[in-house]
Formats: sequence, C-alpha cells, structure tokens
Amino acid sequence: MTDLILRGRTLSFLRWPDNAEDYGAYAYEEDGGLLLRDGKIVAAGAYGEVAATAGEGVTTADHRPHLLLPGFIDAHAHFPQMQVIASYGAELLDWLNKYTFPEESKFTNPQHGRRIARLFLDEMLRQGTTTVAAYCSVHKASAEAFFAEALERDMLVIAGKVMMDRNAPEAVLDTPQSGYDDSKALIAEWHGRGRGLYAITPRFAITSSPEQMEMAGALAREHPDLHIQTHLSENHAEIAFTQELYPWSRDYTDVYDHYGLLGQRSLFGHCIHLSEREADAISDAGSVAVFCPTSNLFLGSGLFDYQRYRTRPKPLRIAAATDVGGGTNYSMLRTMDEGYKVIALNGEKLNPLASFWQLTRGNAEALSIANRAGTLVPGTDADIVVLDSAATPGMRLRMETVGTLAEELFLLQTLGDDRAVAEVYVAGRPAKSTLGSSIN
Ligand code: GUN
Ligand code: ZN
Repeated sequence: MTDLILRGRTLSFLRWPDNAEDYGAYAYEEDGGLLLRDGKIVAAGAYGEVAATAGEGVTTADHRPHLLLPGFIDAHAHFPQMQVIASYGAELLDWLNKYTFPEESKFTNPQHGRRIARLFLDEMLRQGTTTVAAYCSVHKASAEAFFAEALERDMLVIAGKVMMDRNAPEAVLDTPQSGYDDSKALIAEWHGRGRGLYAITPRFAITSSPEQMEMAGALAREHPDLHIQTHLSENHAEIAFTQELYPWSRDYTDVYDHYGLLGQRSLFGHCIHLSEREADAISDAGSVAVFCPTSNLFLGSGLFDYQRYRTRPKPLRIAAATDVGGGTNYSMLRTMDEGYKVIALNGEKLNPLASFWQLTRGNAEALSIANRAGTLVPGTDADIVVLDSAATPGMRLRMETVGTLAEELFLLQTLGDDRAVAEVYVAGRPAKSTLGSSIN
C-alpha cells in the first residue's frame, strides 16, 4: 500500500484532562501531519516534519482546517436493534419483551443478519465510530455476519453472540450446551482474524440459567484473554427480578462474580444503581462500567453518576457507549452531549477535553486496546476521524465566537452529528466518502 499523509489540526490525548485549561493532557498541532503506511500511523507531528520523513511520491489528503482525531470508540451497542431504535413507551423489561426479543427473532434468518450487520457498520463509519463493542443476536449466524462485515472493512471490533436460555421467546433462546458450543466455534473462527476480537456475551443474569452462567464462566476460564460483556444494574425491576432468580446472591454484581465473570476485560453495561459494595467489587476486579446516557434516559433507567464513580476511593474504569437500540443515536457526539446533561443533573460538569478523551483514549483504555487504538501515537492503527466544526449553518455561526480548542470541542459535542464527520479512515483507508447510500 502506498503512503498517505493526512494534513489538518491533529489532536490526541495523553491522559485524563482535569479541566478545560489542562494543556498538558493532550498533543495538538495546528498544522499537523499523520503519515499512514500499511494500516498504521508511522509518524505524527508538525506537517513539515512529517512530510520531510515521507520521501518522494507520497499522496497528501489535505483536511485543513478540520480536526484529525483518533476514530471514536463505542463500548456497547446491539447491532440487531437497528429496527428497535425509536420504539415507544416502555421501561427495560417491557421494552425487551415487546420490541427487542421479537426483532432479534428475525435473525434466525441469516440473510437478515448479513443485511443489518452491513448497514450497522456502515452507520458506525458514517458517524466517525471506527471501533465498536457489539452484541449480536443469540444466533451464531448473526455473529458470523458481523465479523465478516467487519473483516471486509478491516475494522477493529469486539463482538459476541448473546448467550440466553430463558425468560424470552423460543426463537431467541439457546441452551447452556449450544450457547457454549456456538461461542467456542465463533472464538475459533473469528477471534484474532483480521481485527476481530471475540467477547463472551451472556446477555444478562435474567436470560441465563445458572447452568448457562456456569458455561459462560467456563468460557472465561478457558479464554482468559477474551472480553466479557453483559448488562448490570440498569433498572429497578430488573434488579428485583435478578434477586428472585438468584436468591443466594448478595446483590446483582455478586451473581456475575460467583460465576467468575468479573475481570479486567469485563464490560458491564449501565451500572446505574450499584451499591457501594458492588462498586467496590467492580473496582477491585478492574472491570469497566459502561455509561449509556441516551439509553438510560430513553428507557427511564436512571442517572449514571460518572464523576462519583471516577473519583470514589475505589474508582471505576468507565467507558461511554450508544447502547443502540435502547440508545437513541448512533453518534458518539450526540451520546456525549446527552452524557454531559446526565452528569449536570448529578450536579457536576464534564469538561469538553474530558469528553473527547473519553470518546477516544478513555474508551480505548477501558477496552484494553489503547496499545492499538484511541490515540495518534505512531505504531498504532490508522483509525482516524476528520471533524468539521462548521458543518452546518448553525455551527458555522457559533464558530465565529469560539476562541479556544475546548470551546470548539464543546460546540462539536453540543451541535455535531454525522454531518460534522467529514471523513473517516479505517486502517489507513478512507471509509466514509466511499460508502454508498443504499439500504438494500
Ligand atoms: N438488558 C438485557 N438486554 C438488553 C438490551 O438489549 N438493551 C438494554 N438496554 N438492556 C438490556
Ligand atoms: Zn445493551
């Protein structure tokens, strides 16, 4: 592959930004360059210096005056829920029964799975999201379709077929044995193929029998390098039902702990109503609490206390995510805008630098992939988003009064969506401008 230089205003985070004036938390180049080769960033810095190292005949994509950031990372989404998003009038358990399980039943048909996987990953790219941790349906073919589509796009994805063997319609159930066998076969076929990573995915304690939870624990023991993703403490009725189903447990977190599902690669969606004991247990294990603001608001689930979790004596590792289709938008910009409001309702403010840290390096650290994604550090994968802060008339007008980088990022977060994503590079190749618009 030939070398490519991207020219623009480069921004990459070095650590958590304490406030909007925390200039030491990021590297920013007003006239920056990124040299891409064989899917990697091989040089980053001032454009003149990067261009000088590139040699003759290199192609340059001039994105000035746009910003170049690491591609956004979505730490929790359900690809089979593209036709669930925007379903009206229910809280979690009713929403699952009324809309989600019937919709996921359609993935019995592999052709449907292939279509939705393709459209889902196209939508991610349109929104500037280059990596997603995704739930597939219970059907093995849905995960095969997802990984195949990700491979075709050369995307770094984390995904797994959900394991669920009770409390749902027959068409979306597996059994402890088939859930284990299918997961095992998918791991063998897809984990580490291209940029795909498999996640052991018991949907949540309510839809897995104790026998299935044992099997999920066995998979975790047999594959200690894999991610585990599930849901935890999202909704009061869910918590009460879990307590009924596992009467011996101290609390909801204890159920997952009991089956060996707490660890540094465990991603727990929602974590809204955790007790202090539960938060301590998650912190001790180094597991991740995934903040899904649009979903938590839409389903009326509650307010995730981001700043408290971050700063408590035993802090939690936190990721941010859309949770499509409980979540209401595919855009991580829209997601952090809603996240800002949730945090405000908890009496805190999230500074704009911290928001963009979260979308990039923060989520990469939470997913334990920061050695390859989430920054513009040479040697990492060339997944990059190009952001246009004046993409709409309203944004352009507001940009007239913007004076600092932090203000510009806040404008992007507050008013931005897919229109602000001018281009996306996946493994060094343009991936948004090359998308079609067909939904066939
Ligand atoms: N808990 C179990 N399954 C789901 C799901 O699909 N979405 C959300 N938001 N919560 C869940
Ligand atoms: Zn979810």
